[in-house]
Amino acid sequence: MKKDGFVSKMQDIKDIIAEIARMTEAELEKSLPAPDPDYPVLCESERYSLFSAGKRIRPVIAVLVCRMLGGSDEAVLPFAAALEMVHCYSLIHDDLPCMDDDDLRRGRPTNHRMFGEAIALLAGDALLTQAFAVAAGNREVGPDRALKAVSLLSERSGGAGMVGGQVMDKLAENGSPGYRTMIGMHSRKTGALIRLAAELGAIAAGVGEDDPRYASVIEYSNCVGLVFQIVDDLLDAEGDSVETGKNTGQDEKDGKTTFLSFMDPDSARQYADELTSKAVASVRGIPGSGPLCELAEMLLKRKK
Ligand code: IPE
Ligand code: IPE
Ligand code: MG
Ligand code: MG
Ligand code: MG
Repeated sequence: MKKDGFVSKMQDIKDIIAEIARMTEAELEKSLPAPDPDYPVLCESERYSLFSAGKRIRPVIAVLVCRMLGGSDEAVLPFAAALEMVHCYSLIHDDLPCMDDDDLRRGRPTNHRMFGEAIALLAGDALLTQAFAVAAGNREVGPDRALKAVSLLSERSGGAGMVGGQVMDKLAENGSPGYRTMIGMHSRKTGALIRLAAELGAIAAGVGEDDPRYASVIEYSNCVGLVFQIVDDLLDAEGDSVETGKNTGQDEKDGKTTFLSFMDPDSARQYADELTSKAVASVRGIPGSGPLCELAEMLLKRKK
């Protein structure tokens, strides 16, 4: 049976995602040091989280941006792997009892449920710190690009980025922040690493701020980053735990401030839809932007 255009495009992007996920996982294999025989549990714990069923969306964005801007997969993959390591560490720490206290992640028990809190904390630390070595060790780009990547990796992951957003998320449990503060929180805790994905893709392709396409991919990533968290909030409220691989209903239980603290689910979907159109519009004029446009549409409709 002939597939209609929309269905066949979605199939194409699914195949592209699967291919990039495989390449990322091969790069991650190369990026982790061998286990130390005195404490093999550290490596076991890192691998347990890193090689579980993650969607690898951040590496996918990095690779697609790099391809669109004329760069090679070889140049971006070490950056994509470093970013996935930081993301994975952020999830391990996010699930800890002192944070969201979750026991299900990527369809299996959370890292601390398997290895205990101390090892989970340390495995997160080890993934984070190793990520900088992986980005710095990118031999496919010159030292200037590697340095820029490491510096942005630090900025977007740290206190001004993801960690700052996590602090805001934690503080908001005991307060009732306004809408603008919630947007600021989401754009840091989730948006910062998604923006970083686009930035790393551009750096790997040798495209900087002086190129007008740079601002376009940043706009794309800012919109997609917000959509990503809106959908995450919707899935927590309405999604299926088997499909998402995470416990649902957690945000309400923890008194989290989310998009749904300010709007009903339909309005949240409507807003996500508008942001997706904005994301697509920002890159559509760039040759080779098809996969990024399809990815944005897919992330809007995701069920996991
Ligand atoms: C979950 O990220 C945490 C958020 C930032 C919302 P993902 O939904 O990308 O998680 P994985 O990597 O697929 O498990
Ligand atoms: C977490 O947001 C963002 C991170 C920096 C890890 P959430 O706490 O909503 O992510 P999930 O729902 O546990 O994946
Ligand atoms: Mg959280
Ligand atoms: Mg959480
Ligand atoms: Mg969530």
